[in-house]
Amino acid sequence: MKYLQFIGLASVVFLIHAFKLEDTFQKTAPAKPIEERVDSVMKLMTIEDKIGQMTLFTSDWAVTGPTLREGYRDDIKAGKVGAIFNAHTAAYNRELQRIAVEETRLGIPLLFGYDVIHGYKTIFPVPLGESASWDLEAMEKSARIAAIEAAAAGLHWTFAPMVDIARDPRWGRICEGAGEDTYLGARIAEARVKGFQGDDLSKDNTLIACAKHYAAYGAAQAGRDYHSVDISERVLRETYLPPFMAAQKAGVRTFMTSFNELFGVPASGSRFLLTDVLRDEWGFDGFVVTDYTSINEMVYHGIVANDKDAAELSLNAGVDMDMQGATYYNYLLQLVREGRISVTRVNESVRRILRIKFELGLFDDPYRYSDTEREKARVFAPEHLEAARDIARKSIVLLRNEKNTLPLSKQIRTLAVVGPLAANQRELIGSWSGAGDYKQSVSLLDGIKTKLGAGVKVLHTEGCAITGQDKTGFKNALALAKTAEAIVVAVGESADMSGEAASRSDITLPGVQEELVKALVATGKPVVVVLMNGRPLAIPWLAENAPALLETWFLGTQAGHAIADVLFGDYNPSGKLTVTFPRNVGQVPIFYNAKNTGRPMDPQNKYTSKYLDVPNTPQFPFGFGLSYSKFEYANLKTDRSVFNTDSSPLKVTCTVRNLGPYDGEEVVQLYVKDRVGSVTRPVRELKGFQKIFLKNGESKTLTFTLTADDLKFYNRDMIWTAEPGMFDLYVGADSNAPLTTSVELR
Ligand code: BGC
Repeated sequence: MKYLQFIGLASVVFLIHAFKLEDTFQKTAPAKPIEERVDSVMKLMTIEDKIGQMTLFTSDWAVTGPTLREGYRDDIKAGKVGAIFNAHTAAYNRELQRIAVEETRLGIPLLFGYDVIHGYKTIFPVPLGESASWDLEAMEKSARIAAIEAAAAGLHWTFAPMVDIARDPRWGRICEGAGEDTYLGARIAEARVKGFQGDDLSKDNTLIACAKHYAAYGAAQAGRDYHSVDISERVLRETYLPPFMAAQKAGVRTFMTSFNELFGVPASGSRFLLTDVLRDEWGFDGFVVTDYTSINEMVYHGIVANDKDAAELSLNAGVDMDMQGATYYNYLLQLVREGRISVTRVNESVRRILRIKFELGLFDDPYRYSDTEREKARVFAPEHLEAARDIARKSIVLLRNEKNTLPLSKQIRTLAVVGPLAANQRELIGSWSGAGDYKQSVSLLDGIKTKLGAGVKVLHTEGCAITGQDKTGFKNALALAKTAEAIVVAVGESADMSGEAASRSDITLPGVQEELVKALVATGKPVVVVLMNGRPLAIPWLAENAPALLETWFLGTQAGHAIADVLFGDYNPSGKLTVTFPRNVGQVPIFYNAKNTGRPMDPQNKYTSKYLDVPNTPQFPFGFGLSYSKFEYANLKTDRSVFNTDSSPLKVTCTVRNLGPYDGEEVVQLYVKDRVGSVTRPVRELKGFQKIFLKNGESKTLTFTLTADDLKFYNRDMIWTAEPGMFDLYVGADSNAPLTTSVELR
């Protein structure tokens, strides 16, 4: 009897549900334009339903801050939450989606977000490392693969790319971006957005992307995470905003606010950023989500007295969705009733959010992204691992190679592989490694062993830990080193020393690692230092004394294979730094496109801009990276000596020759200096680059184009314009490229 009752109840529930869905779906038939479909859903919604769509809660998976609410399943059932983050895997998300679709009044599907930053399961190099490849196609591909895997694991939305320009290596989050340069940052932002979003959001292998953290988060004072930002509007617009603008032009569907204040207003309450610039100037029609509880944090900033006022400020500024702070959840209804928030403003946000749910095809098939079979097939697919290895080796930067220490010969008989990171797997996937499983990552030791095979004796010991003062392991390391023909020593940071809330005031190698390297170098054997770290380090001794020095960042799942490819010459390194390496932390902030000052450095003149105790120059400049080959640059020319705004683009040509002895890739960089401006201009600015492959001995003539648009900046009246005058052009292998010519813009 009970059973029959249950069947009866179940069919009633089913019938009600079927009617509801039919009703919703008739009104939202796929053939109709999205805006009409959004209208038809909005007509069915109460104000409470609408506020629910504007609320994003974390699931009970890993969190990056305090979880304000538990019982999110009940919230889903009650239609009080429109999006969930940190929940992943096809099966888990399918179940949550089922609750939303089948157990809520309207059956509006949930949106699932996650920090798929440099891979979902197959982990690629940390973004800063990957940017050192200067290979836009490869970066687009890595984002594409991340999306393919994540979209099979129940996800719709990644909180990436992080497009914050960062010029302070103390700031741990420098690791998550594309370095210090605005032009390069903008190109990489486009590539990553395209990679994640693909060409059709409704496909089952695309994610919506999120340009974060809007804006100027990378300018945190003293490199301390979450610290205040105090920059001019000119610097904001010229340095920090262009990558966001590029992401918007590339079609990014969401923006995330930043934690910092700007012009005295926290970003989540900044109408200037969120409405005046983003909507009115740039025409963005996606939605804006806050960073984690950043609405509530406005109370600590001291700009509102309580969460309710914070919600009001934030919504009126232009935030559409509250991440985890529950301020919209708790207060929007009251604010609407009190007339402090208009229903029109709420409708705007809900429309933006629903529009994207339609674009993703969630109303047509809410389970499209939750297919366990597809998940199994896509995660760690062999072609993904292959691509991860390829981009990992492209991201490695050869910083020093005295007497051709590298590449090492595969004919070697005994090799010592030492250092705390030599056999490590855990750190290799870096911070923000999504659902990555470090146990799947290939350690340097394993990569080398696989490369050399059983015939070569590969000896290993740690020597010391990453941190701490214990040197007892040195003895063993030196004993191994003495019996080996060459030594590879892997040192650096642990993954959690960069990323969020991981600023360091001292950016030297932690612990006694440098001492270990010094002891190994003192043996007189060939020593290759392999650095693994998420930020520029201050390593003057290594930079001047290590026989060979490789910057390998945190390269991800295939790290060991990728590094071994470079060590033994199966891949000729081609990475170039996208961020300056200082000599010491006292030089920070140090970046290549600084201003000249009125007293440029003159070593003969005390009263010029310099330090008493360290040169002005960095340890390694932006754009720098060696190859096993030498490249020669010659014949830098322009097709005219004068050009103007209306004429066809200026052609800049230059010949690059690979002098050998290996085939290899080179990143050819074009810089411009505006000699005289109505406001002072940087000493150089990157305006173009090409990554080319040249066979040993081969040469190529490359053509760059420049238009007056490329020379624009905010003039004295804050008008975006190119000013007539002389421009110096430089083409070469890094930001110090000496080869130069000039051209006049009339
Ligand atoms: C970070 C964001 C991240 C968010 C969600 C925050 O703490 O600042 O970058 O997307 O957490 O995990």
